[in-house]
Amino acid sequence: MDPGHCDVGRIVAEIAGEMRGHEHRGKVADYIPPLACVPVEKFGLAVVMADGTVHCAGDAEEPFSIQSISKVFALTLVLGAVGDQVWKRVGREPSGSAFNSIVQLETEQGIPRNPFINAGAIVLCDVLLGGLQPREAIGQMLRFVRELAGDDSIAIDEVVARAEQETGFRNMALANYMRAFGNIHAPVDLVLGTYFHFCALTMTCRQLALAGRFLMADGRNPVSGHSVVNPRRARRINALMMSCGHYDNSGDFAYRIGLPGKSGVGGGILAIAPGIASIAVWSPGLNRSGNSHLGQLALERLVQRTGWSVF
Ligand code: DON
Repeated sequence: MDPGHCDVGRIVAEIAGEMRGHEHRGKVADYIPPLACVPVEKFGLAVVMADGTVHCAGDAEEPFSIQSISKVFALTLVLGAVGDQVWKRVGREPSGSAFNSIVQLETEQGIPRNPFINAGAIVLCDVLLGGLQPREAIGQMLRFVRELAGDDSIAIDEVVARAEQETGFRNMALANYMRAFGNIHAPVDLVLGTYFHFCALTMTCRQLALAGRFLMADGRNPVSGHSVVNPRRARRINALMMSCGHYDNSGDFAYRIGLPGKSGVGGGILAIAPGIASIAVWSPGLNRSGNSHLGQLALERLVQRTGWSVF
């Protein structure tokens, strides 16, 4: 199939229709209480093409908690702030472990395997706090995603942020453990406050796909031409999304879908077809690795019908 020539609007609508009636939807995350209340029936899909055309279907205009997808934006900010220095404190290898696992930190001197597992993103927050107060770092993140999406209505859900603060015992353990190795410098509560607020960003599929545009277009906003990162950095962020974006499910995601992607326990996935499209899908039911079950199925069907896999 020629990836440039297919009726994307029809395919997007078709897939949303197929997902509407799908029986096996996975299980909604319940370890963050407000997420447990999100109806499992929700499904949204948005595809933004390189020429700026947007195709939306289902609940694509409904805000959801982007959770770990924020780790892509946090990495982009950190690379802008300190460049390759960050790789002294975070690795670039898939962990093959759960997103909130602590085990590798013990034998790997408190250096997380990659920036997309919780431990890695907590270090990213600590790096950002090197020169900022939490409220400044949170404000910077909010301005960044609003600018990327071209939409000032994007917000942080304080209820979700507070719930994570009250129940995030694993993240507290990760941060304290890394602090013991000297890989967290700022006070742990400030680092975690920043991390939880990043996770609590709420966006619609449309906003998320728009925010991902720079990753499909060599680091530029394909419509305005404004540079967000240089082309090499965009390629590298995509490479990390491909290898690490779905935790211990990253190999399977590459096998089935073949696109750089990043998931969140809110049920969202941002996937990038380089040079072609930025895609956001949302379905809150998760598989065993904490990735959207129907989101992955929908992306699998999308790449089958469009030929967009990078392989
Ligand atoms: O820290 C946590 O556990 C959540 N705020 C984010 C985890 C997450 O989204 C994992 N993704 N699939």
